[in-house]
Amino acid sequence: MSVKCAIDLNIPDIIHNYGKPMPLSKLTASLKIHPSKTCFIYRLMRILTHSAFFYEHDVTENELEVRYVLTDASKLLLKDPPFSLKYFPQLVHDPVIVNSWIQLSTWFTNDDPTPFHTANGMGFWDFAAREPKLNHLFNEAMATDSLLVSSMVVEKCKSVFEGLESLVDVGGGTGTMTKVIAESFPQLKCIVFDLPHVVGDLQGTENLKYVGGDMFEAIPPADSIMLKWVLHDWNDEECLKILSNCKEAISSKGKVIIIDMVMGNKKEDRELTETEIFFDMQMMHDVTENELEVRYVLIDASKLLLKDHPFSLKYLPQFALHPGILDFAAREPKFNHLFNDAMATDSLLVSSMVIEKCKRVFEGFELLVDVGGGTGTMVKVISESFPELK
Ligand SMILES: C[S@@+](CC[C@H](N)C(=O)[O-])C[C@H]1O[C@@H](n2cnc3c(N)ncnc32)[C@H](O)[C@@H]1O
Repeated sequence: MSVKCAIDLNIPDIIHNYGKPMPLSKLTASLKIHPSKTCFIYRLMRILTHSAFFYEHDVTENELEVRYVLTDASKLLLKDPPFSLKYFPQLVHDPVIVNSWIQLSTWFTNDDPTPFHTANGMGFWDFAAREPKLNHLFNEAMATDSLLVSSMVVEKCKSVFEGLESLVDVGGGTGTMTKVIAESFPQLKCIVFDLPHVVGDLQGTENLKYVGGDMFEAIPPADSIMLKWVLHDWNDEECLKILSNCKEAISSKGKVIIIDMVMGNKKEDRELTETEIFFDMQMMHDVTENELEVRYVLIDASKLLLKDHPFSLKYLPQFALHPGILDFAAREPKFNHLFNDAMATDSLLVSSMVIEKCKRVFEGFELLVDVGGGTGTMVKVISESFPELK
């Protein structure tokens, strides 16, 4: 959410255009925000700096304030190509997607194919066909990724395309990837094949055509087929169907080019593995079912989510998903209850430590008021330990 907010406020581009480390006051003054909000920018920047989206330039003796520069991660959030991926954070934080995440646990209790179905009553592709805004955002996000990947593919994997006469980019979106390939290999006749609502009235070029259709029905014939970021959207059975339609479509000496994420590639690389796993969760949520058989054990963090654990914090993750405030809680008993239970679980955890480690803070007192004490969990534990305290 903080990354989306930074993009919405144009922070990466403002720092980039400043051309040198940008002081916080200058950054704040450049933003189109309400004057009452200027004091919060430091907090937004602090979490984004901590998460390596920005870097705090070393403060010298003469400087009184922090200055920011972009990192490799925030360079990907700039408005202009070739490396802009700014639509991705926008897409994954779109209310339609966030609302489906909230249905994750409900999805586990029903037979819907994905949490997206549970939240929206239909699959992602059907929904995109009816909702031009989401369709546009999704296609833009894919296009920016394709622009980034295509430059690498054309540079590093040139030999894959050499000698080919025709190529169909199946599920090729709005054709960004194929456009780069078609420009680099002018003799190659290219087709971008995707659902009709995606390719719609898009205009081709001399060696690039758009064709609308369904890859589960039939794929236009060619001597090579490219599937970029397509197979990860489908389960094994569906992938077999797509691949057998590819086989039908290509000549005997043709080839299928698959560009996709490979899971478990470098297990020792924590960041890479984290990216793969997040991506897999996004796919499970949006579009596919998974079949996995592994065994798990609880670690200290997951023990805190046990229902009957003395230190249960199970209400906190649920509370975190509610866009609520205290006024709202006063009017909404369900949210009020959830909020109070979340606070109470935290108080139970903290009170046991307070009593054990800070006993003498309470010794000798007669009267204690727990201001903003919620439903009193903390004070109950204190009053049991200090029966003389009112
Ligand atoms: C994850 S996107 C990848 C887009 C593009 N290949 C890229 O990497 O930028 C998957 C694409 O598959 C398309 N798609 C989904 N179902 C399809 C179907 N039945 N037939 C053809 N294309 C389909 C979607 O519209 C979408 O453009």
